[in-house]
Amino acid sequence: MSDPLSSVIIPLLYLLSAVLFIFGLKGLTGVRTAQRGNRLAALAMLLAVVTTLIELGVVDYRWIAGGLIAGSVIGAIAALKVEMTAMPQMVALFNGFGGGASALVAGSILWARIVEPGSAGTASALLGADSATTAFLSIVIGAVTFSGSLIAFLKLQGTIGGQPTLIPGRHVVNSLFLAASLVCGVYLAFFAPTPGELAIAALVLGALGLLLGVLYVIPIGGADMPVIISFLNSLSGLAASMTGFVLGNNLLIISGALVGASGLILTQIMCVAMNRSLGNVFFSGFGGETAASDSREYSNVRSYSPEEAAMVLESAESVVIVPGYGLAVAQAQHTARELGDLLEKRGAKVSYAIHPVAGRMPGHMNVLLAEADVAYDKLFEMDAINPEFKTTDAVLVVGANDVVNPAAETDPASPIAGMPVLKVYNAGTVMVIKRSLSPGFAGIKNGLFENDNTMMVFGDAKKILQELVNEVKSLAA
Ligand code: TAP
Repeated sequence: MSDPLSSVIIPLLYLLSAVLFIFGLKGLTGVRTAQRGNRLAALAMLLAVVTTLIELGVVDYRWIAGGLIAGSVIGAIAALKVEMTAMPQMVALFNGFGGGASALVAGSILWARIVEPGSAGTASALLGADSATTAFLSIVIGAVTFSGSLIAFLKLQGTIGGQPTLIPGRHVVNSLFLAASLVCGVYLAFFAPTPGELAIAALVLGALGLLLGVLYVIPIGGADMPVIISFLNSLSGLAASMTGFVLGNNLLIISGALVGASGLILTQIMCVAMNRSLGNVFFSGFGGETAASDSREYSNVRSYSPEEAAMVLESAESVVIVPGYGLAVAQAQHTARELGDLLEKRGAKVSYAIHPVAGRMPGHMNVLLAEADVAYDKLFEMDAINPEFKTTDAVLVVGANDVVNPAAETDPASPIAGMPVLKVYNAGTVMVIKRSLSPGFAGIKNGLFENDNTMMVFGDAKKILQELVNEVKSLAA
């Protein structure tokens, strides 16, 4: 008869942890509930780790405490130190480690149960067909996630070029390696007759997975990296779930499936927001063929001083602020809110327009504006605000470029053709704050800058916004 700890208490703790993960995820779907959701998910993870270690019963409690402290310190330092704009890289790194850990755990199970005891027979005969299959999938998916995420990290960090590296015949080469890894995995699970051959098959499979991760991610441009990171996040969840099957651990199966599904949903949301398919993101080499646009392509650009811009804002009754990646880089969110508050005090209606892929990660602008205490009811999603631009007096585009580029609607040959954009060009006056005529993420010209109702105000977003604040204050005095 099994003791109550393993038959009742541990399964209940796992169940509690799974439920907390689900409520945590639910909390993350809303701005107001996100912090609570995060705390619930962290609590679920703590419970999961501690329960697993108690279940294994082989680990000294001093090691558990030591591990928890070391992990918490590393996590806290990473969370405090990493800039918001570098968050995608950090997520990539964490995904990679998650995938690598899953592959190693699956490999270690094969080692502990077959190779080390020198058991005769195939993995499927010794472990069961389901465990053998999930072990092979965990190794290959985990290895792909690990190396793919490292390449994504290095590209975003700028350690290796963000440009797509397009190897001739890459689709054929990738397909061959994919087929080879499947053959190797089936051999490992069902046919490797001795522990030695099984060990070799597992090592070859891991190496093929690492190679596949590099081959699939290296041809993808830095511009598409956030989508790939989200997809790799989904793969890391899948690998964890597979490892859960190998270990017979329900919590790992559930939490891995949650990560897998949510990563996939996020990938889909990003693809829809850019009007691209996942296949196009993976295989088109986007961002490589077109040379980045430069200032010589523009002919009718009018540059204004902050003083002139402030005079327009002064008389505007309705103002929409459109934040973009440049606002994040300049950390100008607080100054943007200060300007918004000032204009509101002067009687203007001020709103903030959020494009779903503004910035470099999902929810990037929401997080920044929330940090600056912009009231949630002033934030409007693209579909809600687009019809309002026609009746808006002034739009302030702060460090945004692609998400307000009308070429998405007017030029079918444009790399961003079909991507839904904020229709700021419909407003009375459009003020664009950026440092130069350099392109945004997609590397293309933005015709908005040449429109008759566009005022370019060149400079760093924070500096220009601060000057606008000062000007509006002095005009009021
Ligand atoms: P971008 O099109 O990337 O444009 C940002 C602009 O900010 C640049 O043109 C840059 O011009 C300006 N800038 C940079 N630093 C600045 C500073 N200190 N002060 C003022 N301006 C500064 O940004 P966006 O409009 O937010 O569009 C996001 C892009 O990322 C889209 O193409 C989207 O598809 C892509 N993307 C986003 C995501 C997610 S999930 N958000 C995922 C994948 C891809 P200057 O250099 O002239 O200043």
